[in-house]
Amino acid sequence: MTIETEDDLNALKRIGRIVADCLQLMSRSLEPGMTTKEVDDLGRRFLEGHGARSAPELTYEFPGATCISVGHEIAHGIPGARKLAAGELVNIDVSAELDGYFADTGGSFAVPPISPTQKAVCRGTREALANAMKAARAGRPLNVIGKAIEQTAAKHKLTIIRNLGSHGVGRALHEEPGFIAPYYDARDKRQLTGGLVITIEPFLSNGATEVTDGDDGWTLKTHRRFTSAQYEHTMVITKGMPLIMTLPSPA
Ligand code: CO
Ligand code: CO
Repeated sequence: MTIETEDDLNALKRIGRIVADCLQLMSRSLEPGMTTKEVDDLGRRFLEGHGARSAPELTYEFPGATCISVGHEIAHGIPGARKLAAGELVNIDVSAELDGYFADTGGSFAVPPISPTQKAVCRGTREALANAMKAARAGRPLNVIGKAIEQTAAKHKLTIIRNLGSHGVGRALHEEPGFIAPYYDARDKRQLTGGLVITIEPFLSNGATEVTDGDDGWTLKTHRRFTSAQYEHTMVITKGMPLIMTLPSPA
């Protein structure tokens, strides 16, 4: 969507803060022995308590309130009986709707202790998101996002998972512009415009370059030997820095 009124912006900020606070609550709850269903239940109660509805459930009939993916399963993981273990990297993706507005956020979090590899992949991926946000300005081509992600990945000697992209969001979980590549695509002639609402969500890895479908029809995974991370914000494009919608409440 494109933000047209102050009401649009305020409504998007409301749901943005709810998903960000939900992600923070869930990520801080992670501990060995906890099941991913228990983590999801925390998220579900939080969303419901704020009047919000899970976007993947609402949009795709996803079997969970949030997506929780562990280890080499890096996206769209179904919450279930799997128990978290020390040293695992967990990706939590929270998207939800309130009053017809959608926001989407996510991140990768270690169940301590974090390994040097996990730390390096997480740091590089966070930096890729930050650099892509700095590049994303009204009047520039959309492909500056992929260019910034690619440059940051190269600097950190990380690979890009190329078949997972960023996307438009706001009045639906996924809307135009569809698939914003996480690499520089010279053929993409789309432009960033003022007020446009998008996510940026790089997935970087220490070797993986694509995800494949898991056996359950939802989970997206890489080869098991790789470590990968994702960080995602929903933002509004402006002539300056994007306005981040998915920031948690001040502590
Ligand atoms: Co997401
Ligand atoms: Co997304």
